Amino acid sequence: MTTRKPLISGNWKMNYTHLDAIAVVQKLTYTLLPADYDRADVSVHPSFTALRSVQTMLDADGIPIALGAQDVHPAESGAFTGEVSPSMLAKLNVRYVIVGHSERREHFGDTDAFVNQKLLAVLKHEMIPILCVGETLAEREAGFIEDKVVGQLEAAFDGVPAQAAEGLVVAYEPIWAIGTGRTASPDDAQAVCKAIRSWLASHYRTDVADKVRVQYGGSVTPTNIAELMAQSDIDGALVGGASLDAEKFAQIVRLGRTAS
Ligand code: 13P
Repeated sequence: MTTRKPLISGNWKMNYTHLDAIAVVQKLTYTLLPADYDRADVSVHPSFTALRSVQTMLDADGIPIALGAQDVHPAESGAFTGEVSPSMLAKLNVRYVIVGHSERREHFGDTDAFVNQKLLAVLKHEMIPILCVGETLAEREAGFIEDKVVGQLEAAFDGVPAQAAEGLVVAYEPIWAIGTGRTASPDDAQAVCKAIRSWLASHYRTDVADKVRVQYGGSVTPTNIAELMAQSDIDGALVGGASLDAEKFAQIVRLGRTAS
């Protein structure tokens, strides 16, 4: 069990209107107890259209769920039709911003260099990046797991000083496990999360690596969260499908939080 406070994040992807989003957060707040928030940080990542509504609700009721975004454009402002800037998110009290999700990399052409720009922009605005890394099934079968992940880390952390790096979150999301019902075994997930921490220790320092929270993502459910969280280098989860159901997500938080 980790000594870092776990972070359990719900990535809602392209689901839910702002009305649905409010209903889900309301249900979550009925279910989660002070002990859950004491022993785990919780974030929800609705669509851009729902951020303002969810923020208003969290702020008005003093609910200790952190607001998260699913993506950001690195520029401050300008002619980028359809995009959202880091300051727009920061003004909404967004705390965590997912960068480099494999769906962005695959469907929208986010390169390692662009992910690095996004990460730096998020840090500049004093929000916390959740950097996603992970391999495809073909890469796994070819034994290319650590090389792929380390390559993504090297590119994403370019220009990030140690002081900023220690506050970051890295999410290991094997692409073949996303939305497929196939989870990495706890041992396999632990091996890659440990490799991520080792890279951080060699690139920065051990004390920096010890502070970074490493999440696992890919078909996380109430059934598998406990065994994943029992691994020493797994500090939380980035949950897709199961986070759309408030009850399931609350169960994941409860089972994923530290014991005391
Ligand atoms: P699933 O939990 O639906 O597999 O999605 C994982 C994910 O991509 C979270 O960012």
